[in-house]
Amino acid sequence: MCGIIGYNGYQDPKGILLDGLKRLEYRGYDSAGIAILEGDKTEVFRAEGRIQQLETKLTRHQFKGHLGIGHTRWATHGAPTENNAHPHQAGPITLVHNGIIENYLGHKLILEKSHVSFSSDTDTEVLAHLFDRELKSGLSLKDSTLKILPLLKGSYAFAVINENEPGTLVGVSNGAPLIVGIGENETFLASDVQAILHRTNRVIYLEEGQIAVCKSNHVELFSQEGESLKANIKTLHWTADQMEKAGYRHYMLKEIHEQSQAIANTISGCIDPNSGTIQIPQIEKIKDTLKSISRISIVACGTARHAGLVGKYYLERFAKISTDVDFGSEFRYRQPVLDKNSLTILISQSGETADTLAALRESKSQGVSTLSICNVRESSLARESDLVLYTNAGPEIGVASTKAFTTQLTMLYMLAVQLGEIRGIISNESAKELTTDLMHLPHLVDNSLRLEGKIEEIAQTLQDTPFFFYMGRDNLYPIALEGALKLKEISYAHAEGYPAGELKHGPIALIDRQAAVIVLAPLNNSPKSKISLKGFEDNILFEKILSNLQQVKARGGQVITIGTEGDGLFPKESKYFIGLPKTSWALNPILSTIPLQVLAYHIASLRGTDVDKPRNLAKSVTVE
Ligand code: F6R
Repeated sequence: MCGIIGYNGYQDPKGILLDGLKRLEYRGYDSAGIAILEGDKTEVFRAEGRIQQLETKLTRHQFKGHLGIGHTRWATHGAPTENNAHPHQAGPITLVHNGIIENYLGHKLILEKSHVSFSSDTDTEVLAHLFDRELKSGLSLKDSTLKILPLLKGSYAFAVINENEPGTLVGVSNGAPLIVGIGENETFLASDVQAILHRTNRVIYLEEGQIAVCKSNHVELFSQEGESLKANIKTLHWTADQMEKAGYRHYMLKEIHEQSQAIANTISGCIDPNSGTIQIPQIEKIKDTLKSISRISIVACGTARHAGLVGKYYLERFAKISTDVDFGSEFRYRQPVLDKNSLTILISQSGETADTLAALRESKSQGVSTLSICNVRESSLARESDLVLYTNAGPEIGVASTKAFTTQLTMLYMLAVQLGEIRGIISNESAKELTTDLMHLPHLVDNSLRLEGKIEEIAQTLQDTPFFFYMGRDNLYPIALEGALKLKEISYAHAEGYPAGELKHGPIALIDRQAAVIVLAPLNNSPKSKISLKGFEDNILFEKILSNLQQVKARGGQVITIGTEGDGLFPKESKYFIGLPKTSWALNPILSTIPLQVLAYHIASLRGTDVDKPRNLAKSVTVE
């Protein structure tokens, strides 16, 4: 949460900071601010709301300085007002911060006793005053940092400048991400590479507790103990082009359309041309260990957790491993009893979600092996996990997750099939067939996207509907949850997802003529080979979902079915029918997701919401 940017070089920092903040706006957009050192005075500008408001404030300002910091805020401590917006100042110090200083109140009380007064409700201002106190005792910015860090509790990153050290920008990462960019006679700090990737692709990912002292022409790294560290400079793979909208109205729409490519990229390198089966190289290396795994715990948040719920079906059906799925925010607090023979799978697009990271650390502390499915290389999750499977979806900028989700499902499918084969649950013949199905998936996703025009028309008729109900059975139940989440987060319409069979136990009371009911009822392609797994080879639940549909229809609900093209039953029973290409039981969750994303996108866009940056949300939730 919150985005940090810093610049130390030869250019006017205003444009660089504003541009960086716009690229980080997905991390929070309650207020924004920048500070630029002009001679020996720091000029601070802050505004409530979006970066646009800050930009308007700065229109007439020209700067001569070359050092500055900026911030876009997702409020935690203190209301989203200008007063609470960053940067915060204390004496010569100016500071921006992401995360939470948990023990700030204790420090605030002590500072107040020495007559320090505060102009905001934030933990950040307390930090600025701690710096001011140390500087007054004659310490430099770097030495003050070393003195202050042991006093702080929580997960945070910050960037700080001092009027008395005009050539120095200091950044600290401790449980929240901060990246150093290295250009020609200029250095950058940013919460995420996308803020600076178009300026340099040479970066250092700060590790837990590291301090970066950035001069314009070099960077020095230190541990919290003040020990000098060797910088590990990486050259990034993602290009700046991948970060742009490529002609689409919103990043979300672009990312929806990128899914066939993203899935193909995720699959690439994981299919063995000789055997014709899925072989994720990292899994192949530890296959003997994986043979003996007795249980899997999947932990994730939001959309990533929905992927985990589908993963449970895959892992239990293909690999016969008992699998639990937990919310990241609940896992560690329920004191999970983990078996040393078990495996924890963490799923995260960003790799920086605080609750997911805490689950990783909890598992490691109990001696359990950890495997992450992650999209961002060098993220905290990727660095700390025993094994990482990257989803290769490319950068996802829209706050609502789309291609990250379908690539997570793809990776879980591959993992489950490979584990199934390693553990002797599925035959080589079945593994080949499941691999062939998967290889067709990118093409099927593309074909499903051709239905966008029809879905947009449906969205027009549904845009004012007050209540949406999504239902599915078996491995499509998590997709009902995901469809509802997608719609509510970007359109602000009330939406709920349920297992269709659960309807009669309460939620059916909500159904009336006002409700739109989205029914997930695709047909499964029967496998040609004998994969003797119950419920896998046919459509045993097809008739059951049809009767669930009848139940809502009888109460006046307008039914929209996501089914399979050529189906003779559901189109007659539904107000609208979206016919997807036919695929297997296991791939239907991925394919059925596509029309739900498109529907949510068009309803939100017709309602005029800010699709890429919906209210109250942030892309990467780095606080508890
Ligand atoms: C919803 C959405 C969120 C994220 C969740 C976890 O569209 O994007 O629910 O899925 O915040 O984020 P990551 O995957 O970065 O851990």
